[in-house]
Amino acid sequence: MDEKYHLALKTAFASEYAFALKAQNFHWNTEGPLFYQHHLLFERIYDEVYSAIDQFAEELRALQVYAPASYSKFSMLTQVKDENSVPEWSEMLGELLEDSERMANIFRITFDMAEQNGDHGLSNFLADRQDAHKKHSWMLRASLK
Ligand SMILES: [Fe+2]
Repeated sequence: MDEKYHLALKTAFASEYAFALKAQNFHWNTEGPLFYQHHLLFERIYDEVYSAIDQFAEELRALQVYAPASYSKFSMLTQVKDENSVPEWSEMLGELLEDSERMANIFRITFDMAEQNGDHGLSNFLADRQDAHKKHSWMLRASLK
């Protein structure tokens, strides 16, 4: 259980970092008639996600798991794919929405694993991350209508 559990947590951590970087990428590079709204929405999202990254790493350390902390480790682990081109604004919203839904699902699964392991402090944190991503997903989805 431990190895699978710890790998799932490291994957969630790397994916969360990659997600924040993508939101920042889109904050910098978005263009279009609603530029300023999208620029601010992407900022709000990466700010919120980065604000949870340090605690996430320290939760891993409390389980005696080393936090992945390099771009090469992140790219080996992440379930959120890099965006190397500059998509059109609606594609940015759609892609980040898909990634945010993926993150909510990753946190739903890792929450269950933490509960099974009796790590209730960590499971609270993971539940909060799932909730945060549901809210990011809502704002991205609403911006696409
Ligand atoms: Fe900025």
